[in-house]
Amino acid sequence: MDQSEQRIKIAVQKTGRLTDHSIGLLERCGLKVTKSKDQLICYGENMPIDLLLVRDDDIPGLVSDDVCDLGIVGLNVVEEKRLQLEQSGSEGLFKQIFELDFGHCRLSIAAPEGANYKGSESLNNSRIATSYVGLLRDYLNKHEIDAEPVFFSGAVEIAPKLGRADFICDLVSSGGTLVANGLREVAVLLQSEAVVIQTLAPLGDEKQALVDKIIQRLDGVLKVRDSKYIMLNAPRSALDDIRALLPGSEAPTVMPLEGSNDKIAIHAVCRENVFWETLENLKAAGASSLLVLPVEKMLP
Ligand code: PRP
Ligand code: ZN
Repeated sequence: MDQSEQRIKIAVQKTGRLTDHSIGLLERCGLKVTKSKDQLICYGENMPIDLLLVRDDDIPGLVSDDVCDLGIVGLNVVEEKRLQLEQSGSEGLFKQIFELDFGHCRLSIAAPEGANYKGSESLNNSRIATSYVGLLRDYLNKHEIDAEPVFFSGAVEIAPKLGRADFICDLVSSGGTLVANGLREVAVLLQSEAVVIQTLAPLGDEKQALVDKIIQRLDGVLKVRDSKYIMLNAPRSALDDIRALLPGSEAPTVMPLEGSNDKIAIHAVCRENVFWETLENLKAAGASSLLVLPVEKMLP
């Protein structure tokens, strides 16, 4: 078999809100990449993994057509593609395998500030501008609303001003775009975040093992993000109180302190952020010499 066939190809957004996070996350999984001159491919230097930089809307198609083995893309794009395939009678040809907990946003319907909106029935007999016709149709059908989706490939938010639509259905993250265009969010259709999708085409043992390894590393990277390693000393009698105060930690390590019968050292991984308040509470419970360290890598 051709050597290039054994390399994993991951489709990643070329420019946009997911790009830096997607590449950064893979780098934290140990991947080192160099960009090609035309900026279309990132070649993996130390692993047989290459990143294809493409438009986010193209990612589910590239994965379902088996051009790429994996894709990192917003759930909004994945669900839109799945519904388009479903509504046109074809089957979805990729599986969603992992949520990445970044790129959070939502697909919402928004109305012009002055519009008289009294719930979803106000959408009846209206035109709604969107790039997400599949998701919008699905919502309208489920709520038995008779409205007409008007496809816009971009700049959806200006459609009402142009007189092309009464409402819009678009992604909202900070909400800044809506405010800047005099629009008000009235209904949420979908909560989205970046996800990993995999082709349904069998990868072969070697490639699948590599994919499984990447997913395990991604999981490790996500788990340590808010994790802290905490070390402190305390009287043995305070152990129960202190354990109860450690945020999101499993069994701590407890060690005797040299030269003291009564004092112990407690070390624990906390799966949540450790705030100043927690440290103050630990101190009040008898802890001293508190130290909080970031966790870089974790493997179960
Ligand atoms: C979305 C959406 C809005 C903007 C909303 O576009 O179309 O323009 O983000 O974000 P805000 O609430 O923070 O202002 P995006 O940048 O994701 O590009 P794309 O949909 O064209 O890929
Ligand atoms: Zn896009």
